[in-house]
Amino acid sequence: MNVRDSLLKAFADAGRNYISGSALAEQLGVSRNAVWKAVKALESEGYIIESLTAKGYRLSGESNHLSAPLISAKVNASVLGSKIVVLDETDSTNNYAKKLTASEAPNGTVVIADMQTAGKGRLGRSFISPEGKGLYMSVILHPEFSINTAPLITSAAAVATAEAIESLCKTDVRIKWVNDLYINGKKIVGILTEASVDMEMRALDIAVIGIGINVRSIGDSFDAELSARASSIQDETGVALNRNDLCAAVINYLDAHLIKIESREYLREYRRRELLTGNMITAKVGSETLKGKAVGIDRNANLMIETENGIVRSLSSGEANLCRIAE
Ligand code: BTN
Repeated sequence: MNVRDSLLKAFADAGRNYISGSALAEQLGVSRNAVWKAVKALESEGYIIESLTAKGYRLSGESNHLSAPLISAKVNASVLGSKIVVLDETDSTNNYAKKLTASEAPNGTVVIADMQTAGKGRLGRSFISPEGKGLYMSVILHPEFSINTAPLITSAAAVATAEAIESLCKTDVRIKWVNDLYINGKKIVGILTEASVDMEMRALDIAVIGIGINVRSIGDSFDAELSARASSIQDETGVALNRNDLCAAVINYLDAHLIKIESREYLREYRRRELLTGNMITAKVGSETLKGKAVGIDRNANLMIETENGIVRSLSSGEANLCRIAE
């Protein structure tokens, strides 16, 4: 690790405590002058570093700068986060991730951007991704599980993201089947999983899980139509989460669920948080609009809907493209 990254790791480990220049110099095996130069270099990159005479340095809690070493310092996952790529800007982190070759992107690589110019949502929609406000991340998997398990990935990511947010701020995060997370009735997270399949092996070749979280106050970045149904964690809870901490928490929770995805254990948490269940809903399936009561989530993360003639149908995420609570 170079001096810059070692310094960031030392700051991450120290948390809110100050560390003196001499302690840092000793820990990093460099001169105090080299520490001072590295601090100045970090400041010029946009990190906010507080210094107090006789106490030393610490990273400011106000810092909103995305940083691979700061994320890595908090990742304790077995597979995910083995490599972390942070970009200032890209069209879409999912697109960027899909363009990386296998050697550039080992299993568990995470690509994060401070803004996306063409963030993608489901069904060809866009995901508005303004600079510095959200966590836009894509996780690359070279999955070892069977193709039948693939539909579970997005719902496991929804549970992991809800748990990560709740671990950092006191709030209640709900899931609207299949991939949207809500706080106070407003959407704050969208998830788009894209996969390529090895038809001969009947296995998943690569899966890219794209997670978009509106973290900081949205201000005027959303138009009136979007503001009416979507919001951010800060706007709903008053808490300005640190995006590096949030990213590490998502990686840790997701890693834990993916390792045992075939056990479907995470579905218990999914069902507990799911918003459509128990409500009369309408679902668009192809050209047909189904009306019925959402009666639960089955073992393949499909939505079970009891139609007016008493028949229960299981809808997959690929099948139903719009589910609304009926008025
Ligand atoms: C949706 O709400 O329909 C899904 C939104 C998914 C957005 C995330 S942001 C990171 C990743 N990159 C993208 O272009 N999309 C996903």
